[in-house]
Amino acid sequence: MIFDTLLLNAEVATASDRYRADIGIRDGRIAAIGRDLGRADHTLDAAGRLVTPGGVDAHCHLDQPTSDGSKMADDFVTGTRSAACGGTTTIIPFACQFKGQSLQAAVDDYHRRSEGKAAIDYAFHLIVSDPTPGVLRDELPRLVAAGYTSFKVYMTYDDMKLDDRQILNLLAVARREGAMTMIHAENADCIGWLTEQLLDAGLGAPRYHAHARPMLVEREATHRAIALAELADVPILIVHVSGREAVDQIRTAQGLGLKVFGETCPQYLFLTGDDLGGEGFEGAKCICSPPPRDKANQEVIWRGLENGTFHVLSSDHAPFAYAGPDGKKAHGPDAPFSEVPNGIPGLETRMPLLMSHGVMDGRIDIHSFVALASTNAARLYGLFPRKGTIAVGSDADLVVWDMDRPRTIRNALLHHAVDYTPYEGIEVKAWPAMTLSRGEVVWRDGEYLGRAGHGQFLPCERPALAGTRGRGHRGPLWKPN
Ligand code: URP
Ligand code: ZN
Ligand code: ZN
Repeated sequence: MIFDTLLLNAEVATASDRYRADIGIRDGRIAAIGRDLGRADHTLDAAGRLVTPGGVDAHCHLDQPTSDGSKMADDFVTGTRSAACGGTTTIIPFACQFKGQSLQAAVDDYHRRSEGKAAIDYAFHLIVSDPTPGVLRDELPRLVAAGYTSFKVYMTYDDMKLDDRQILNLLAVARREGAMTMIHAENADCIGWLTEQLLDAGLGAPRYHAHARPMLVEREATHRAIALAELADVPILIVHVSGREAVDQIRTAQGLGLKVFGETCPQYLFLTGDDLGGEGFEGAKCICSPPPRDKANQEVIWRGLENGTFHVLSSDHAPFAYAGPDGKKAHGPDAPFSEVPNGIPGLETRMPLLMSHGVMDGRIDIHSFVALASTNAARLYGLFPRKGTIAVGSDADLVVWDMDRPRTIRNALLHHAVDYTPYEGIEVKAWPAMTLSRGEVVWRDGEYLGRAGHGQFLPCERPALAGTRGRGHRGPLWKPN
Protein backbone atom coordinates (compact mmCIF):
# COMPACT_ATOMS: atom_id res chain seq x y z
CA MET A 1 0.00 0.00 0.00
CA ILE A 2 1.17 3.53 -0.68
CA PHE A 3 0.33 5.79 2.22
CA ASP A 4 -0.50 9.47 2.18
CA THR A 5 1.75 9.94 5.19
CA LEU A 6 4.15 7.79 7.18
CA LEU A 7 4.96 8.84 10.72
CA LEU A 8 8.26 7.13 11.42
CA ASN A 9 9.93 6.17 14.71
CA ALA A 10 7.01 6.76 17.02
CA GLU A 11 7.09 5.72 20.67
CA VAL A 12 3.38 4.91 20.64
CA ALA A 13 1.49 5.16 23.93
CA THR A 14 -2.18 4.28 24.27
CA ALA A 15 -4.35 3.69 27.33
CA SER A 16 -3.07 0.12 27.43
CA ASP A 17 0.15 -0.27 25.42
CA ARG A 18 3.53 1.25 24.69
CA TYR A 19 5.75 0.23 21.78
CA ARG A 20 8.01 1.59 19.00
CA ALA A 21 6.47 1.61 15.50
CA ASP A 22 5.84 3.53 12.30
CA ILE A 23 2.27 4.64 11.57
CA GLY A 24 0.88 4.57 8.02
CA ILE A 25 -1.94 7.00 7.28
CA ARG A 26 -4.32 6.89 4.37
CA ASP A 27 -7.47 8.95 3.77
CA GLY A 28 -7.22 10.43 7.24
CA ARG A 29 -7.21 7.07 9.00
CA ILE A 30 -4.52 4.87 10.45
CA ALA A 31 -4.02 2.21 7.80
CA ALA A 32 -1.07 0.30 9.26
CA ILE A 33 1.15 0.17 12.33
CA GLY A 34 4.49 -1.65 12.23
CA ARG A 35 7.93 -1.54 10.69
CA ASP A 36 9.02 -1.19 7.06
CA LEU A 37 5.49 -0.34 6.01
CA GLY A 38 6.42 0.80 2.50
CA ARG A 39 6.16 4.03 0.58
CA ALA A 40 4.30 7.24 1.26
CA ASP A 41 3.74 10.60 -0.39
CA HIS A 42 4.95 12.34 2.77
CA THR A 43 7.06 11.23 5.69
CA LEU A 44 7.21 12.73 9.14
CA ASP A 45 9.81 11.69 11.70
CA ALA A 46 8.77 11.37 15.33
CA ALA A 47 12.47 10.66 16.11
CA GLY A 48 11.65 8.30 18.97
CA ARG A 49 9.37 10.77 20.69
CA LEU A 50 6.25 9.79 22.53
CA VAL A 51 3.17 9.69 20.28
CA THR A 52 -0.27 9.62 21.90
CA PRO A 53 -3.81 9.78 20.53
CA GLY A 54 -5.03 13.34 20.03
CA GLY A 55 -6.87 14.70 23.02
CA VAL A 56 -10.63 14.51 23.39
CA ASP A 57 -11.79 17.52 25.39
CA ALA A 58 -15.28 16.44 26.38
CA HIS A 59 -16.29 19.59 28.22
CA CYS A 60 -15.78 23.00 26.68
CA HIS A 61 -17.93 25.96 25.71
CA LEU A 62 -17.45 27.81 22.40
CA ASP A 63 -19.67 30.57 21.04
CA GLN A 64 -22.37 29.37 23.41
CA PRO A 65 -25.25 31.85 23.63
CA THR A 66 -25.78 33.30 27.10
CA SER A 67 -28.83 34.82 28.77
CA ASP A 68 -27.07 37.65 30.65
CA GLY A 69 -25.75 39.76 27.77
CA SER A 70 -22.19 38.42 27.98
CA LYS A 71 -20.46 36.93 24.96
CA MET A 72 -17.81 34.25 24.73
CA ALA A 73 -14.49 35.35 23.25
CA ASP A 74 -13.87 32.09 21.41
CA ASP A 75 -15.90 30.82 18.51
CA PHE A 76 -15.24 27.57 16.63
CA VAL A 77 -12.41 29.18 14.64
CA THR A 78 -10.32 30.41 17.54
CA GLY A 79 -11.35 27.72 20.02
CA THR A 80 -10.46 24.78 17.79
CA ARG A 81 -7.22 26.50 16.71
CA SER A 82 -6.22 26.81 20.34
CA ALA A 83 -7.21 23.21 21.06
CA ALA A 84 -5.10 21.90 18.16
CA CYS A 85 -2.03 23.83 19.32
CA GLY A 86 -2.32 22.10 22.70
CA GLY A 87 -2.77 18.58 21.29
CA THR A 88 -6.56 18.26 21.36
CA THR A 89 -8.11 16.91 18.16
CA THR A 90 -11.74 16.40 19.21
CA ILE A 91 -13.95 18.68 21.26
CA ILE A 92 -17.45 18.22 22.61
CA PRO A 93 -19.05 21.60 23.38
CA PHE A 94 -22.70 22.15 24.28
CA ALA A 95 -25.80 22.94 22.27
CA CYS A 96 -27.66 24.81 24.99
CA GLN A 97 -31.44 24.92 25.23
CA PHE A 98 -32.97 28.02 26.82
CA LYS A 99 -36.26 27.79 28.64
CA GLY A 100 -39.10 28.04 26.14
CA GLN A 101 -36.86 26.93 23.27
CA SER A 102 -37.03 23.55 21.57
CA LEU A 103 -33.95 21.35 21.79
CA GLN A 104 -33.93 21.04 18.01
CA ALA A 105 -33.76 24.83 17.68
CA ALA A 106 -30.75 24.89 20.02
CA VAL A 107 -29.04 22.18 17.97
CA ASP A 108 -29.79 23.93 14.66
CA ASP A 109 -28.46 27.21 16.01
CA TYR A 110 -25.27 25.54 17.23
CA HIS A 111 -24.68 23.90 13.85
CA ARG A 112 -24.97 27.35 12.26
CA ARG A 113 -22.39 28.66 14.71
CA SER A 114 -19.91 25.84 14.02
CA GLU A 115 -20.44 25.05 10.32
CA GLY A 116 -17.26 25.54 8.28
CA LYS A 117 -15.33 27.01 11.20
CA ALA A 118 -13.69 24.16 13.09
CA ALA A 119 -10.10 23.08 12.50
CA ILE A 120 -10.60 19.80 14.39
CA ASP A 121 -13.52 17.41 14.72
CA TYR A 122 -16.38 18.09 17.09
CA ALA A 123 -19.53 16.54 18.52
CA PHE A 124 -22.26 18.18 20.61
CA HIS A 125 -23.60 17.48 24.06
CA LEU A 126 -27.07 18.86 24.75
CA ILE A 127 -27.88 21.11 27.70
CA VAL A 128 -31.48 20.46 28.71
CA SER A 129 -32.95 23.38 30.67
CA ASP A 130 -36.61 22.91 29.76
CA PRO A 131 -37.60 19.22 29.85
CA THR A 132 -41.18 19.63 28.66
CA PRO A 133 -43.27 16.54 27.89
CA GLY A 134 -42.52 17.12 24.20
CA VAL A 135 -38.77 17.27 24.85
CA LEU A 136 -38.86 14.08 26.91
CA ARG A 137 -41.20 12.12 24.67
CA ASP A 138 -40.22 13.27 21.16
CA GLU A 139 -37.18 15.49 20.87
CA LEU A 140 -34.69 13.67 23.07
CA PRO A 141 -35.28 10.20 21.59
CA ARG A 142 -35.01 11.66 18.09
CA LEU A 143 -31.83 13.58 18.89
CA VAL A 144 -30.18 10.63 20.64
CA ALA A 145 -30.87 8.49 17.57
CA ALA A 146 -29.35 11.24 15.42
CA GLY A 147 -26.04 11.20 17.32
CA TYR A 148 -26.53 13.60 20.24
CA THR A 149 -26.11 10.93 22.89
CA SER A 150 -25.19 12.92 26.00
CA PHE A 151 -26.84 15.70 27.89
CA LYS A 152 -25.88 18.03 30.70
CA VAL A 153 -28.15 18.84 33.60
CA TYR A 154 -27.64 21.84 35.89
CA MET A 155 -28.60 21.75 39.54
CA THR A 156 -27.63 25.43 39.81
CA TYR A 157 -27.83 28.69 37.77
CA ASP A 158 -31.33 30.20 37.78
CA ASP A 159 -31.75 30.10 34.00
CA MET A 160 -30.66 26.46 33.67
CA LYS A 161 -31.39 24.54 36.85
CA LEU A 162 -33.75 21.58 37.03
CA ASP A 163 -35.50 20.30 40.12
CA ASP A 164 -35.21 16.70 41.31
CA ARG A 165 -38.39 15.58 39.60
CA GLN A 166 -37.23 17.01 36.28
CA ILE A 167 -33.84 15.36 36.69
CA LEU A 168 -35.51 12.01 37.37
CA ASN A 169 -37.58 12.40 34.22
CA LEU A 170 -34.42 13.04 32.21
CA LEU A 171 -32.55 10.16 33.80
CA ALA A 172 -35.40 7.87 32.85
CA VAL A 173 -35.09 9.02 29.23
CA ALA A 174 -31.31 8.53 29.39
CA ARG A 175 -31.81 4.98 30.56
CA ARG A 176 -34.43 4.18 27.94
CA GLU A 177 -32.58 5.80 25.04
CA GLY A 178 -29.02 4.81 26.00
CA ALA A 179 -27.69 8.32 26.61
CA MET A 180 -25.15 9.60 29.12
CA THR A 181 -26.20 12.26 31.62
CA MET A 182 -23.62 14.77 32.86
CA ILE A 183 -24.52 16.59 36.05
CA HIS A 184 -23.36 19.98 37.34
CA ALA A 185 -23.79 19.33 41.04
CA GLU A 186 -24.17 22.41 43.24
CA ASN A 187 -27.16 23.20 45.45
CA ALA A 188 -28.86 26.27 43.95
CA ASP A 189 -30.88 27.28 47.01
CA CYS A 190 -27.88 27.15 49.34
CA ILE A 191 -25.89 29.27 46.88
CA GLY A 192 -28.76 31.76 46.51
CA TRP A 193 -29.14 32.06 50.28
CA LEU A 194 -25.41 32.50 50.89
CA THR A 195 -25.11 35.01 48.06
CA GLU A 196 -27.89 37.12 49.55
CA GLN A 197 -26.15 37.16 52.95
CA LEU A 198 -22.82 38.12 51.40
CA LEU A 199 -24.21 40.87 49.19
CA ASP A 200 -26.30 42.29 52.07
CA ALA A 201 -23.06 42.53 54.05
CA GLY A 202 -21.39 44.39 51.18
CA LEU A 203 -19.13 41.43 50.32
CA GLY A 204 -19.34 41.38 46.54
CA ALA A 205 -15.67 41.14 45.48
CA PRO A 206 -14.74 38.14 43.31
CA ARG A 207 -13.19 36.27 46.22
CA TYR A 208 -16.59 35.94 47.87
CA HIS A 209 -17.66 33.73 44.97
CA ALA A 210 -15.91 30.91 46.85
CA HIS A 211 -17.76 31.80 50.06
CA ALA A 212 -21.08 31.52 48.23
CA ARG A 213 -20.19 28.05 46.92
CA PRO A 214 -18.47 26.14 49.74
CA MET A 215 -17.71 22.47 49.32
CA LEU A 216 -20.80 21.38 51.20
CA VAL A 217 -23.11 22.74 48.49
CA GLU A 218 -21.21 20.61 45.98
CA ARG A 219 -21.19 17.63 48.35
CA GLU A 220 -24.94 17.81 48.95
CA ALA A 221 -25.80 18.08 45.27
CA THR A 222 -23.36 15.33 44.32
CA HIS A 223 -24.94 13.05 46.92
CA ARG A 224 -28.43 13.92 45.64
CA ALA A 225 -27.47 13.43 41.99
CA ILE A 226 -26.10 10.00 42.82
CA ALA A 227 -29.24 9.10 44.75
CA LEU A 228 -31.43 10.18 41.83
CA ALA A 229 -29.32 8.11 39.42
CA GLU A 230 -29.53 5.13 41.78
CA LEU A 231 -33.30 5.51 41.89
CA ALA A 232 -33.54 5.76 38.10
CA ASP A 233 -30.95 2.97 37.89
CA VAL A 234 -28.80 4.61 35.24
CA PRO A 235 -25.13 5.68 34.99
CA ILE A 236 -24.24 9.37 35.44
CA LEU A 237 -21.12 11.46 35.16
CA ILE A 238 -20.45 14.24 37.67
CA VAL A 239 -18.66 17.08 35.88
CA HIS A 240 -15.96 19.48 37.13
CA VAL A 241 -15.45 17.97 40.58
CA SER A 242 -13.46 20.37 42.74
CA GLY A 243 -12.46 18.73 46.00
CA ARG A 244 -12.59 16.17 48.78
CA GLU A 245 -16.24 16.28 49.75
CA ALA A 246 -17.57 15.51 46.27
CA VAL A 247 -14.79 12.99 45.70
CA ASP A 248 -15.85 11.15 48.85
CA GLN A 249 -19.42 10.92 47.57
CA ILE A 250 -18.31 9.56 44.20
CA ARG A 251 -15.93 7.02 45.71
CA THR A 252 -18.56 5.80 48.13
CA ALA A 253 -21.01 5.32 45.25
CA GLN A 254 -18.39 3.56 43.15
CA GLY A 255 -17.59 1.33 46.13
CA LEU A 256 -21.25 0.36 46.27
CA GLY A 257 -21.04 -0.68 42.63
CA LEU A 258 -22.96 2.25 41.19
CA LYS A 259 -21.89 3.42 37.75
CA VAL A 260 -20.93 6.95 38.71
CA PHE A 261 -18.25 8.49 36.52
CA GLY A 262 -16.17 11.50 37.47
CA GLU A 263 -14.69 14.43 35.59
CA THR A 264 -12.28 17.01 36.92
CA CYS A 265 -10.43 19.93 35.34
CA PRO A 266 -7.02 21.65 35.53
CA GLN A 267 -8.43 24.54 37.60
CA TYR A 268 -8.86 22.15 40.51
CA LEU A 269 -5.23 20.99 40.21
CA PHE A 270 -3.49 24.32 39.64
CA LEU A 271 -5.64 27.10 41.12
CA THR A 272 -6.82 27.80 44.66
CA GLY A 273 -9.31 30.16 46.26
CA ASP A 274 -6.41 32.63 46.64
CA ASP A 275 -6.52 33.13 42.87
CA LEU A 276 -9.92 34.75 43.31
CA GLY A 277 -7.92 37.67 44.63
CA GLY A 278 -8.16 40.37 47.30
CA GLU A 279 -10.71 43.17 47.29
CA GLY A 280 -10.02 44.14 43.62
CA PHE A 281 -11.73 42.76 40.50
CA GLU A 282 -8.71 40.88 39.05
CA GLY A 283 -9.82 37.65 40.76
CA ALA A 284 -12.82 37.58 38.42
CA LYS A 285 -10.44 35.93 35.94
CA CYS A 286 -10.65 32.77 38.05
CA ILE A 287 -14.38 32.81 38.81
CA CYS A 288 -15.71 29.42 37.80
CA SER A 289 -18.14 27.02 39.39
CA PRO A 290 -17.46 25.10 41.51
CA PRO A 291 -14.69 27.47 42.63
CA PRO A 292 -11.06 26.40 43.04
CA ARG A 293 -10.44 25.14 46.61
CA ASP A 294 -7.07 24.88 48.44
CA LYS A 295 -3.76 23.01 48.19
CA ALA A 296 -5.02 20.06 50.24
CA ASN A 297 -7.96 19.66 47.88
CA GLN A 298 -5.67 19.86 44.85
CA GLU A 299 -3.89 16.81 46.30
CA VAL A 300 -7.21 15.00 46.72
CA ILE A 301 -7.99 15.66 43.05
CA TRP A 302 -4.55 14.41 41.97
CA ARG A 303 -5.15 11.28 44.01
CA GLY A 304 -8.52 10.81 42.32
CA LEU A 305 -6.77 10.91 38.95
CA GLU A 306 -4.24 8.33 40.16
CA ASN A 307 -6.67 5.91 41.76
CA GLY A 308 -9.37 5.81 39.08
CA THR A 309 -12.07 7.89 40.82
CA PHE A 310 -11.94 10.21 37.81
CA HIS A 311 -12.32 8.98 34.27
CA VAL A 312 -11.99 12.24 32.39
CA LEU A 313 -9.90 15.40 32.65
CA SER A 314 -11.62 18.15 30.66
CA SER A 315 -10.83 21.85 30.36
CA ASP A 316 -14.34 23.28 30.93
CA HIS A 317 -13.03 26.04 28.66
CA ALA A 318 -15.53 28.89 29.12
CA PRO A 319 -13.86 31.82 27.40
CA PHE A 320 -14.91 35.18 28.81
CA ALA A 321 -12.43 38.02 28.21
CA TYR A 322 -11.31 40.06 31.21
CA ALA A 323 -11.13 43.48 29.57
CA GLY A 324 -13.92 44.86 27.42
CA PRO A 325 -17.68 44.95 27.93
CA ASP A 326 -18.60 41.40 26.80
CA GLY A 327 -16.85 39.09 29.23
CA LYS A 328 -16.05 39.17 32.94
CA LYS A 329 -17.00 42.87 33.04
CA ALA A 330 -20.31 42.46 31.18
CA HIS A 331 -22.06 43.92 34.21
CA GLY A 332 -19.35 46.47 34.97
CA PRO A 333 -15.87 46.44 36.48
CA ASP A 334 -17.31 46.62 39.99
CA ALA A 335 -20.10 44.10 39.52
CA PRO A 336 -20.62 41.72 42.44
CA PHE A 337 -19.30 38.17 42.00
CA SER A 338 -22.85 36.94 41.43
CA GLU A 339 -23.03 38.90 38.16
CA VAL A 340 -19.65 37.87 36.77
CA PRO A 341 -19.91 35.29 33.96
CA ASN A 342 -18.64 31.96 35.24
CA GLY A 343 -15.82 30.07 33.60
CA ILE A 344 -12.18 30.21 32.60
CA PRO A 345 -10.20 29.33 29.45
CA GLY A 346 -8.07 26.19 29.23
CA LEU A 347 -8.43 24.25 25.95
CA GLU A 348 -4.80 24.67 24.92
CA THR A 349 -3.13 24.15 28.29
CA ARG A 350 -5.07 21.04 29.43
CA MET A 351 -2.87 18.33 27.89
CA PRO A 352 0.55 19.99 28.48
CA LEU A 353 -0.34 20.62 32.14
CA LEU A 354 -1.39 16.99 32.67
CA MET A 355 1.61 15.58 30.79
CA SER A 356 4.06 17.80 32.69
CA HIS A 357 2.67 17.73 36.19
CA GLY A 358 0.93 14.37 35.99
CA VAL A 359 3.22 12.08 33.97
CA MET A 360 6.59 13.82 34.15
CA ASP A 361 6.24 14.59 37.86
CA GLY A 362 5.47 10.91 38.45
CA ARG A 363 1.87 11.25 39.64
CA ILE A 364 0.21 9.21 36.88
CA ASP A 365 1.61 6.86 34.27
CA ILE A 366 1.42 7.49 30.54
CA HIS A 367 -1.48 5.06 30.10
CA SER A 368 -3.56 6.89 32.66
CA PHE A 369 -2.69 10.14 30.91
CA VAL A 370 -4.03 8.84 27.61
CA ALA A 371 -7.12 7.39 29.28
CA LEU A 372 -7.92 10.63 31.12
CA ALA A 373 -7.13 13.03 28.29
CA SER A 374 -8.55 11.06 25.39
CA THR A 375 -9.68 7.41 25.50
CA ASN A 376 -12.21 7.46 28.32
CA ALA A 377 -14.05 10.49 26.94
CA ALA A 378 -14.21 8.82 23.53
CA ARG A 379 -15.67 5.71 25.16
CA LEU A 380 -18.09 7.53 27.45
CA TYR A 381 -19.53 9.65 24.66
CA GLY A 382 -19.71 7.08 21.87
CA LEU A 383 -16.74 8.14 19.72
CA PHE A 384 -14.47 5.13 20.36
CA PRO A 385 -12.63 3.60 18.48
CA ARG A 386 -12.81 6.27 15.80
CA LYS A 387 -11.35 8.66 18.39
CA GLY A 388 -9.31 8.14 21.54
CA THR A 389 -6.81 5.51 20.45
CA ILE A 390 -4.05 4.61 18.01
CA ALA A 391 -5.26 1.58 16.09
CA VAL A 392 -5.73 0.50 12.49
CA GLY A 393 -9.02 2.01 11.32
CA SER A 394 -9.03 4.85 13.84
CA ASP A 395 -8.78 8.45 12.70
CA ALA A 396 -5.16 9.58 12.44
CA ASP A 397 -5.46 12.05 15.31
CA LEU A 398 -2.01 12.04 16.83
CA VAL A 399 0.23 14.09 19.08
CA VAL A 400 4.05 13.91 18.92
CA TRP A 401 5.33 15.19 22.25
CA ASP A 402 8.32 17.44 22.86
CA MET A 403 9.43 16.62 26.39
CA ASP A 404 12.88 18.17 26.21
CA ARG A 405 12.14 21.87 26.37
CA PRO A 406 10.68 23.42 29.51
CA ARG A 407 8.60 26.52 28.94
CA THR A 408 6.48 28.95 30.86
CA ILE A 409 2.78 29.36 30.05
CA ARG A 410 2.17 32.88 28.80
CA ASN A 411 -1.10 34.05 27.35
CA ALA A 412 0.83 35.74 24.55
CA LEU A 413 1.91 32.27 23.37
CA LEU A 414 -1.60 30.79 23.29
CA HIS A 415 -3.98 30.75 20.35
CA HIS A 416 -7.38 31.39 21.89
CA ALA A 417 -9.08 34.79 21.69
CA VAL A 418 -9.22 35.30 25.45
CA ASP A 419 -7.04 38.09 26.86
CA TYR A 420 -5.68 36.05 29.78
CA THR A 421 -4.90 32.57 30.95
CA PRO A 422 -5.39 31.61 34.60
CA TYR A 423 -2.24 29.48 34.21
CA GLU A 424 0.06 32.44 33.41
CA GLY A 425 3.57 31.78 34.72
CA ILE A 426 3.16 28.04 35.37
CA GLU A 427 6.13 26.00 34.11
CA VAL A 428 5.53 23.01 31.85
CA LYS A 429 8.07 20.47 30.64
CA ALA A 430 6.06 19.10 27.72
CA TRP A 431 4.20 20.54 24.76
CA PRO A 432 3.06 19.01 21.47
CA ALA A 433 5.78 19.22 18.84
CA MET A 434 3.19 18.16 16.28
CA THR A 435 -0.57 17.59 16.20
CA LEU A 436 -2.28 15.68 13.39
CA SER A 437 -6.03 15.81 12.81
CA ARG A 438 -7.22 13.03 10.48
CA GLY A 439 -3.71 12.86 9.04
CA GLU A 440 -3.33 16.62 8.45
CA VAL A 441 -0.61 18.42 10.36
CA VAL A 442 -2.40 21.22 12.23
CA TRP A 443 0.39 22.26 14.59
CA ARG A 444 4.13 21.82 14.14
CA ASP A 445 7.17 23.34 15.85
CA GLY A 446 5.26 26.28 17.23
CA GLU A 447 3.34 27.05 14.06
CA TYR A 448 -0.41 26.68 13.60
CA LEU A 449 -1.07 24.99 10.25
CA GLY A 450 -4.74 24.16 10.63
CA ARG A 451 -7.64 25.31 8.52
CA ALA A 452 -11.11 26.41 9.50
CA GLY A 453 -13.50 23.97 7.86
CA HIS A 454 -11.23 20.91 8.13
CA GLY A 455 -13.06 19.84 11.29
CA GLN A 456 -16.11 17.63 10.82
CA PHE A 457 -19.19 17.18 12.95
CA LEU A 458 -19.22 13.75 14.62
CA PRO A 459 -22.53 12.08 15.40
CA CYS A 460 -21.96 9.98 18.54
CA GLU A 461 -22.92 6.37 19.06
CA ARG A 462 -24.85 5.42 22.14
CA PRO A 463 -22.09 4.83 24.70
CA ALA A 464 -21.81 1.16 25.59
CA LEU A 465 -22.23 1.89 29.29
CA ALA A 466 -24.98 4.46 29.25
CA GLY A 467 -28.62 3.55 29.27
CA THR A 468 -27.81 0.26 30.89
CA ARG A 469 -28.33 -0.36 34.53
CA GLY A 470 -26.75 2.00 37.00
CA ARG A 471 -25.41 -0.83 39.09
CA GLY A 472 -22.89 -3.37 38.01
CA HIS A 473 -19.27 -4.33 37.83
CA ARG A 474 -16.58 -1.88 36.84
CA GLY A 475 -16.64 -1.47 33.09
CA PRO A 476 -13.74 -1.23 30.67
CA LEU A 477 -13.18 2.43 31.40
CA TRP A 478 -11.18 1.79 34.48
CA LYS A 479 -7.53 2.46 33.96
CA PRO A 480 -5.34 -0.59 33.40
CA ASN A 481 -3.22 -1.65 36.37
O1 URP B 1 -17.91 28.10 35.80
C1 URP B 1 -18.10 27.30 34.91
N1 URP B 1 -17.84 26.03 35.10
N2 URP B 1 -18.56 27.74 33.75
C2 URP B 1 -18.88 27.01 32.63
C3 URP B 1 -20.28 26.50 32.68
C4 URP B 1 -20.35 25.23 33.46
O2 URP B 1 -21.08 25.17 34.42
O3 URP B 1 -19.69 24.27 33.12
ZN1 ZN C 1 -21.13 23.13 34.83
ZN1 ZN D 1 -18.76 23.81 31.60
